[in-house]
Amino acid sequence: MRGLVVLVTLACFASAQHQALIDYLERRLLAIEDRISLWHEQTNRYATELRELKQQMVAQLENLDKENEVLRNTLESVGARVDRVEREMDYLETQNGAQPCVDMDDKLMEQQVTQVKEDNKAKYAKLSDCRDMISSIKAMKILKKLGGPKGTWSKDVSRGSGRVYIFNGTDGDTIHEFATVHDFTGSLGFTRAKAVTLPSAWRGTGHVIYNSHAYYVKQGEEVELVKYDMRNGSVTDTAVFPVQDNLPVYSLTPETVVDLAVDEEGLWAIYATRENDRYISMAKMDAKSLDTEQMWDTTCPRENAEAAFVICGTLYVVYNTKQPGRSRVQCVFDVNGMVTSDDAPLVYFPKRYGAHSSLKYNPLEQLLYAWDDGYQILYKLVMKKKLEV
Ligand SMILES: *[C@@H]1O[C@H](CO)[C@@H](O)[C@H](O)[C@H]1NC(C)=O
Ligand SMILES: *[C@@H]1O[C@H](CO)[C@@H](O)[C@H](O)[C@H]1NC(C)=O
Repeated sequence: MRGLVVLVTLACFASAQHQALIDYLERRLLAIEDRISLWHEQTNRYATELRELKQQMVAQLENLDKENEVLRNTLESVGARVDRVEREMDYLETQNGAQPCVDMDDKLMEQQVTQVKEDNKAKYAKLSDCRDMISSIKAMKILKKLGGPKGTWSKDVSRGSGRVYIFNGTDGDTIHEFATVHDFTGSLGFTRAKAVTLPSAWRGTGHVIYNSHAYYVKQGEEVELVKYDMRNGSVTDTAVFPVQDNLPVYSLTPETVVDLAVDEEGLWAIYATRENDRYISMAKMDAKSLDTEQMWDTTCPRENAEAAFVICGTLYVVYNTKQPGRSRVQCVFDVNGMVTSDDAPLVYFPKRYGAHSSLKYNPLEQLLYAWDDGYQILYKLVMKKKLEV
């Protein structure tokens, strides 16, 4: 009996334990189900959020695509413009004839006149600093009548110098130097002048006086530029200038084969070549060494031209007009390409003789020194900026 009780108790105990286990498992299962449903919910939420995000992304991508398209179109049109500018530059280069520059340089080398220059510095960045062009002539003054119908006169283009120089006629070996403009205007003939005899004869009307040096053209077998120090009377340098057949640069001033000019940028040579014989050519010169720095074939014809001058890298060519007693700037060539003949100012010069034999610009005074039938005339210029054209 006692054994049965123990058995029943044991069985009860076992069944109670069993029940507890089942209960426990059930609770666990419920908890797991809860968590599973929670995960489900969360997953669903994440899925929804993901979907929304995806939709947003798609929308933004579409937007980006559209922007891309706009950008691509813009880039294409910019590309086309770059192409056009490049083509225009190519065209301008062929117009400006970069090629003859090389040819000429070769010739110079052959003739062994160029000194080896150490500074092959960037060439014309400096030219762009200067932007003046002629607007009009403000005043004209006839200073004197001295010497023959043709000649050249100018002041020394250097700060602090008031000296006036006369090259009478189209050939000779003497320069007349006046200490001041006052001496020049007050002089009876050449009485107040100091006569400076050069070591060789000059020819034409191409001479300039620049920083106390006379730069003149000597014409023999070859055309030579001579740089002469006026202070101690010595030749500083000479250079053969590569022009052939002594072609006059202006048809109406046949004595002048090379015309020299000084502007804000320095020394220039204006000349004619066989290869481009209908038009005027110009070169930027190194005033120190007489080396040719760069050359251009301009679009200005030689025919009917009487003289020219350079201001801020722009060549102004003066032509005879049909109206008697008048000549006019009718062609302009800017080495920087900022001024064309269409922008050329209507600048008229009264004249007495057949042609001006020389027009020399002084960049320090913005005056033109003209020689017309033995009269020495000053023209006062009014300038404007090239960009205002
Ligand atoms: C100036 O040159 C002319 C020729 O053009 C000449 O007849 C005249 O005698 C010259 N005058 C002087 C002072 O040399
Ligand atoms: C003349 O003067 C310059 C500069 O003052 C000088 O370099 C040159 O050697 C001088 N020439 C003569 C021959 O005295």
